[in-house]
Amino acid sequence: MIQELYKLRTQNSWTLYEEAKKFLPGGVTYAIKYWEPYPIYVFKAKGSRIWDVDENEYLDFWMGHTAIIMGHAYEPVIRAAKEQLELGAHLGFCHEWEIRLAEIVTRMVPSVKLFRATNSGTEANMYGIRLARAYTKKNKIAKFEGHWHGGYDALHKAVNPPLNKPPSLGLTDCVMNDTILLPFNDLEGVRQRIKGEKLACIILEPVMGSNGMIPADREFLKGLRELCDEVNALLIFDEVVTGFRLAKGGAQEYYGVLPDITVFGKILGGGIFPAGGFGGREDVMELLDQTKRKHYEMSFHGGTYAGNPLTARAGYTLLSELIKGEVYLKINALGEKARKGLEDIFSRNKVVAHVTGVGSLFAVHFTKEKPKDVISAIGDTKLAKDYFYFLLNNNILCMKPSKQVFAPSAAHSEEDIECLLSVTEEFLGQASV
Ligand SMILES: Cc1ncc(COP(=O)(O)O)c(C=O)c1O
Repeated sequence: MIQELYKLRTQNSWTLYEEAKKFLPGGVTYAIKYWEPYPIYVFKAKGSRIWDVDENEYLDFWMGHTAIIMGHAYEPVIRAAKEQLELGAHLGFCHEWEIRLAEIVTRMVPSVKLFRATNSGTEANMYGIRLARAYTKKNKIAKFEGHWHGGYDALHKAVNPPLNKPPSLGLTDCVMNDTILLPFNDLEGVRQRIKGEKLACIILEPVMGSNGMIPADREFLKGLRELCDEVNALLIFDEVVTGFRLAKGGAQEYYGVLPDITVFGKILGGGIFPAGGFGGREDVMELLDQTKRKHYEMSFHGGTYAGNPLTARAGYTLLSELIKGEVYLKINALGEKARKGLEDIFSRNKVVAHVTGVGSLFAVHFTKEKPKDVISAIGDTKLAKDYFYFLLNNNILCMKPSKQVFAPSAAHSEEDIECLLSVTEEFLGQASV
């Protein structure tokens, strides 16, 4: 019934999906963008709104995988990008914008003294891990269950339940055996699992994103910092989602815990161009310095489009706004209003559900307890799916059918949050809940 309504409203998307299936495996470029029976096809976006090819207007809470912090088609970034397109989007030589971007990142993010740009968060994680191995001269790495760091082999382990199944075929035992899995928000559990291991690094998302915006406990992060120092392993924060979003200095500023290496993505490219980057302590990043070392003494990083002027200028333009700090007051207040409002609605309607998140990031979990990790985040998938489609049919977009994740931007208003709250209330009033 709920899907029948969806089909009636999205006939043009259905036509495009039928065509897409002929040329794209599964009809999509990334499985996360698919939902049953087919996804919507978006035609344009502005501010907090998105329009699909059937001319439905949606209130968007997915915001380009959380990358769009100022709203879609943010004028200053569009203007800067247009100007740079005329001058040259891909020059193949050094240019001023790579310096501007690196400089502003080092000013904003407390632990980053030197910085390098990549083309994606996945790539940045790959180079970050390599750098940690190069610096410590150790092979093994440790990541947390349920944390997502992109498709890089070494980190593509235990992403979604069931955790004992590989998240992809084609991953070799050799690579998998070098990656140790850790329990999130459980310092004693971490201690036990790393006992006797020679670790190059421990990497984590300070807020576990795709499994439902579950924040690390502050004490847990502090403990992890001490533990890394104790065992001579580097601490890596994957701030692809939290970077420039929780605060201008990301999660490390918010928590007051400094990693050795930080990985960025999303917002770093102005929110609209493929981007990533990594940075950290001088003595660690120095291993990338070709003026001081021969190639066989370095940790390699590079790439045709890495730090290209279009992405770098877009990123710099956006960060120049974010560094003022005002935007965080606004988006964090929106996040707070949504979390409080949703908790209140669930409790008044006696629905067993919880809302997690921090700052502007939040997620709904139909679980008995407030989840602290990926396993406790497994909840009522039928209810979650129904909620997702109800929001969709009421012109509200979020990700994904199995778990609803939201990331409002500075273009969102209090009325937008109230709209989400009232549609949620309506959903809970339905007979099937
Ligand atoms: C925390 C985190 N790390 C890394 C990545 C991978 O970034 P990209 O998709 O740019 O490769 C993502 C993407 O969603 C992410 O959320």
